Amino acid sequence: MHQLPHHQSVVLFIQISRISTKMDLQTVAPMGSAAIAFGGPAVAVAGGISLLFLKSFLSQQPGNPNHLPSVPAVPGVPLLGNLLELKEKKPYKTFTKWAETYGPIYSIKTGASSMVVVNSNQLAKEAMVTRFDSISTRKLSKALQILTADKTMVAMSDYDDYHKTVKRNLLTSILGPAAQKRHRAHRDAMGDNLSRQLHVLAPNSPQEAINLRQIFQSELFTLAFKQTFGRDMESIYVGDLGTTMTRDEMFQILVVDPMMGAIEVDWRDFFPYLKWIPNAKLEEKIEQMYIRRKAVMKALIQEHRNRIESGENLDSYIDYLLSEAQPLTEKQLLMSLWEPIIETADTTMVTTEWAMYELSKHPNKQQRLYNEIRNVCGTSEKITEEKLCKMPYLSAVFHETLRVHSPVAIIPLRYVHENTELGGYHVPAGTELAVNIYGCNMEREIWENPEEWSPERFLAENEPNNMLKTMAFGAGKRVCAGAMQAMLLACVGIGRMVQEFEWRLKDDVEEDVNTLGLTTQKLNPMLAVIKPRN
Ligand code: HEM
Repeated sequence: MHQLPHHQSVVLFIQISRISTKMDLQTVAPMGSAAIAFGGPAVAVAGGISLLFLKSFLSQQPGNPNHLPSVPAVPGVPLLGNLLELKEKKPYKTFTKWAETYGPIYSIKTGASSMVVVNSNQLAKEAMVTRFDSISTRKLSKALQILTADKTMVAMSDYDDYHKTVKRNLLTSILGPAAQKRHRAHRDAMGDNLSRQLHVLAPNSPQEAINLRQIFQSELFTLAFKQTFGRDMESIYVGDLGTTMTRDEMFQILVVDPMMGAIEVDWRDFFPYLKWIPNAKLEEKIEQMYIRRKAVMKALIQEHRNRIESGENLDSYIDYLLSEAQPLTEKQLLMSLWEPIIETADTTMVTTEWAMYELSKHPNKQQRLYNEIRNVCGTSEKITEEKLCKMPYLSAVFHETLRVHSPVAIIPLRYVHENTELGGYHVPAGTELAVNIYGCNMEREIWENPEEWSPERFLAENEPNNMLKTMAFGAGKRVCAGAMQAMLLACVGIGRMVQEFEWRLKDDVEEDVNTLGLTTQKLNPMLAVIKPRN
C-alpha cells in the first residue's frame, strides 16, 4: 500500500480514492451538491481536478502495472494505525461494522503492517480461488510460529509440497469419504455415549442445568484419540515431565492451552523493527505450552509405537503414518498427529453448542425439526447417518448455525507474496489478507435479515446438498479438510439430542451470545434444561 507520510493525507486519500473509485460521476453528484452549498462551484471543480491528479499519481506507483487504484483505507492514528480499535479479541465484529462505512474491501494498518480485509462472498472467492496463486502463504505471529512448530501443520503452512503431502495423509487416513466410512463405528459409539450421559443427567434437570459442552467436547476428544491412535486414553505417564497425566490434563495441554496461546498478542508482531526488544514473559509462556505439548505427544507416540511393535495394529493415523505414508521427521510426525486432535475437539463442538442454543431459544423451530425426525424415523428408530439425506430441515439448522456463528470467523491470515488485484484494486506484495467469514455471512445483498437465525432460508426447493452454502469452511485449495466429519458429527448429534429430549434454556440466559477465543466458542457454556420425550 502507498505509504503517505501524515495522518491527514491518509484521511484525504481515503476520502478521495473512495469517491474516485467506488462511484461514477452521476453518483458523485448528490455529494457534489453538498460541496456547492458550502463553497460554491469553484470548490467542486478544484476537488475534481485534485481527484484526477491523485488518481493518476497513485496509479503510476511502481509495482502497479495495471494502474489500478489502491484499496480504500480505514483512517487510523499515526504509528498504531487501527490497532487500538482492534484490541478486544473479536475483530470479526469490528471488521463487519467497518464494511458498512468503507465498503466490502478496505485496508487497515496494524502497526507497521498493512492488511486488506474482505467482507463479501464474491471478494472472498476471488481471494481464495481466482487470486490464490499470489495469496497462498502465511505470515505468522510469534506465538503461532512457536505453536505451529514453524508452520509444520496443514492449516497453518504455506501452500507447498509439505502441505500437499500432509493434507493427503489426513484425507486418506481420517477425513476423506473412504476413511470416514472406516471410522463409522467410532462416531456411532460417540452418539450412543452422548445419549446415555444425557439420560443419566435428565432426571436432575431442571434443578441441575446440563452443560452440553462438557459432555460433547469430551466425546470429541475420545473420537480424536480413537482416530489418531486407535483407542481412547484415560491417562498416560509423561516421562519428560516425570508425571502421570489424566485425560483432562491432556485435554488442557493438547487443546485448551494452544487455542488460548494462538491469540496471545505480542506487540512486537506489529512493529517488526522493534523485534530486538525482549518480551520474555510471553515467550516463556508460549514456550512452556510448546514443551508440555511436545512431552505429552511424545509419550502418546511412544506408547503406540510399542503397541505397533508388539504386533497390535489398529486402523489409526499413527499406524498409517508409520507404515504406509512417506516417512516424516519426528517433529513432522508429532505435529501431524496433534493436528487432527485439536481440530476435531473444537470447531464441531462450537457449531453443535450454538445449534442447540438456537433450537432451545426457538421452540417452534425445534418442534419443526422434531416433526421431521418423527416423519423419517417413526417412534422407534434412531437417527443414523444414512437418514441425513432425508432431513432437509436438520441440514438447514446446521448450515444456518454455521452462517450466524461461523466457528472460524476470520480465515487464518494469508500473506500476499506477489503483487495482485482484488475487486479491481491493486494489492501489493507484503500485504496481509484477512477474509472475514463472519462479514461474508452477514452480507445484506445475499442474506435477508442476516442477523436472524432462520434455518428456513436454506429450504429452497431442489437446492443441491452443497457443503459450501456459506463461507464457513473456506473455499478453494485450502478448503477445510474436516467438513464432512464436522457435518456428520454435528447433524447426527443435534438430531439425536432433539429426537430424545425437549430442550430449553435455563432461565435468565436468553440473550447470551458473547464469544471467546480463536474460534467463536460461546463465552459462557450453554446451560440447558432437558426433558425426555417419551
Ligand atoms: C464446523 C466445523 C469446522 C469449521 C467451520 C472449519 C472451518 C475451516 C476453515 C474456514 C478452514 C479454511 C482455512 C483457510 O482457508 O486457510 C479450515 C481448514 C482446515 N480444517 Fe476445518 N473446520 C471445521 C472442522 C474441521 C475438522 C473436524 C477438522 C479435522 C479433524 C478440520 C481440519 C481442517 C484442516 C486440516 C484445514 C486446513 C486445510 C488447508 O489448509 O488446506 N476442520 N477449516
